[in-house]
Amino acid sequence: MSKNLYIKTFGCQMNERDSEIIEQLLAQEGYIATAEPEGADLILINTCSIREKAEQKVFSLLGSLRPEKQKNPKLLLGVTGCVAQQEGEQIRARMPHVDLIIGTQQIYRLPEMLDRLSQGVTSKEIATDMEASFTIPPFQKLLNIAPSPLPVAASGCKRFVTIMQGCDNFCSYCVVPGTRGRETSRQVADIVEEVEILVSQGVREITLLGQNVNSYGTTNQVADQQINFPKLLRKVAGIKGVQRLRFTTSHPKDLTEELMRCFAEIDNLCPHFHLPVQSGSNAVLRRMNRKYTVETYLAKVDLLRQYRPDIALATDIIVGFPGENIDDFQATMDLLNRVRFHSSFSFKYSDRPHTRSAEFGDKISEEEKNRRLSTFQQQQDLISFERNCEYIGKKVEVMVEAVHMKNLKGRTLGNHIVHCPDSAASLVPGDLVMVRILDAGKHSLKGKIEN
Ligand code: SAH
Ligand code: SF4
Ligand code: F3S
Repeated sequence: MSKNLYIKTFGCQMNERDSEIIEQLLAQEGYIATAEPEGADLILINTCSIREKAEQKVFSLLGSLRPEKQKNPKLLLGVTGCVAQQEGEQIRARMPHVDLIIGTQQIYRLPEMLDRLSQGVTSKEIATDMEASFTIPPFQKLLNIAPSPLPVAASGCKRFVTIMQGCDNFCSYCVVPGTRGRETSRQVADIVEEVEILVSQGVREITLLGQNVNSYGTTNQVADQQINFPKLLRKVAGIKGVQRLRFTTSHPKDLTEELMRCFAEIDNLCPHFHLPVQSGSNAVLRRMNRKYTVETYLAKVDLLRQYRPDIALATDIIVGFPGENIDDFQATMDLLNRVRFHSSFSFKYSDRPHTRSAEFGDKISEEEKNRRLSTFQQQQDLISFERNCEYIGKKVEVMVEAVHMKNLKGRTLGNHIVHCPDSAASLVPGDLVMVRILDAGKHSLKGKIEN
């Protein structure tokens, strides 16, 4: 008999991909994924702990599910992802109605855990057994467990393919090295096979995923020798059917000229690059343990733009890092105005458990962090708007992602969202159309199909 599975996913694309893997795994056990929690037999919360706010959301959602559990004692409630990995004990203590807590590298053991749970074994006993029997290299097992991807209808025309996991960079503020473990690269053959299956099912856009894709193959435990990220990119780009190729995320210190050259030479590699800088102040970058300077970052951006002048650059910024003074913050604003990123994700610094910066003195007040964040975001909005206006009048290639009534939504090569109201043509997700851009806002473009 089939059972209903509802997964709520927080956090980054790694988590989104993990949720898909979980769906695939549990489909083999008779679970059907549903879009709503009502009527679910199993609810999984795939969690993120990157910032305090993300973690608070998890605890409040878990709390709000308590009455559901009381109403329906057969309902199973599980927590996966980064909070589960780091704060398993705390979840167990604060949320006794949670049945399962599964760390990031153990999701492939979910079917076995559910099985044991149904035999009456408690979740604490399962967790203890798991630790005792932990012998298989988890990542290898995890990534190769579900070779047959979801049907395209369920997932659209673009998909993520994980190429590496974990992070060895230990930025002083970041939980990821703790929640995802050491960098581990996947075998080329497995990556190629997964992409081939996806395109054979009609997927047209592939995004290669990792916390730090630029170091793919260099700190490998699993990947083949003699391969690095630019070579992998060329290989994947060459797979027939891959219309658009993207990747995320990159650490600036590992961005090489060989990779920049890919943007000039690989036709289907999209001119879109997420290169998190975090701060425009060398003093702050040093305390963040980022291992590059503002000068080397800017030099890389300049060179990248020589290889690919139309590249759309995105970044991540943290404001209010401990000890960030007004001059440091101004340096971040100067960097924004110099690079003029197409878009950015900006965050208020937040202390995280087991990170070095949590111990740093000279914390910035919440009020001042708010002020800096809004100053930064206002300027970014203005720049995004100006950048978007540069497209007005141009004809650009758009991949259709959704069609609702006659309104089409899609993305440009640079990853800008485009809306085309009143599109008469019958189009489906994955179709490529040429669009004349007629208007721009700070977050999207508006246009008209003009094939
Ligand atoms: N691996 C990616 C980033 C993953 S986390 C990279 O290095 O590019 C995504 C973003 O969250 C980071 O780039 C950073 O800007 C932000 N972030 C991470 N830890 C944070 C913290 N403690 N407080 C605020 N923002 C944080
Ligand atoms: Fe976190 Fe730094 Fe690793 Fe990115 S590179 S995941 S910010 S430790
Ligand atoms: Fe969050 Fe974990 Fe991703 S902490 S950002 S879900 S790696």
